[in-house]
Amino acid sequence: MPTVTYVHPDGTKHELEVPTGKRVMQAAIGAGIDGIVAECGGQAMCATCHVYVESPWADKFPSISEEEDEMLDDTVSPRTDASRLSCQLVVSDDVDGLIVQLPEEQV
Ligand code: FES
Repeated sequence: MPTVTYVHPDGTKHELEVPTGKRVMQAAIGAGIDGIVAECGGQAMCATCHVYVESPWADKFPSISEEEDEMLDDTVSPRTDASRLSCQLVVSDDVDGLIVQLPEEQV
C-alpha cells in the first residue's frame, strides 16, 4: 500500500498507508490529521484542502484542471507553484512515498 507523509508547518510528520484510489484529502480526514479541513467534502469548491506538493511527486499527478486552478486562487495560505487541492489527488502506486506539505492555514 502506498505511503503518504503529511508534514505540518512546524515540521511534525504523519505517515499513513493509503489504499490506492483514495484521495490524499480523504486519507488525512480519515486519520484525523489536523491541517486539512475539506469543507466541501471533495467537490473542488472550497480550497480548504490546500497542500503543497513538490517535485518529483508533483509530476506524477494529472495537471491542474480549470476548476482546481480557479479554487487555488482562493486559498488562505499563499498559492505557490507547488499548490494543489488534496481532494483532487488520487493515490496510486506511482506516488508511493509521497510527501505533502500542509499550509499554515486553511480557513
Ligand atoms: S475538499 Fe473542498 S476543494 Fe478539496
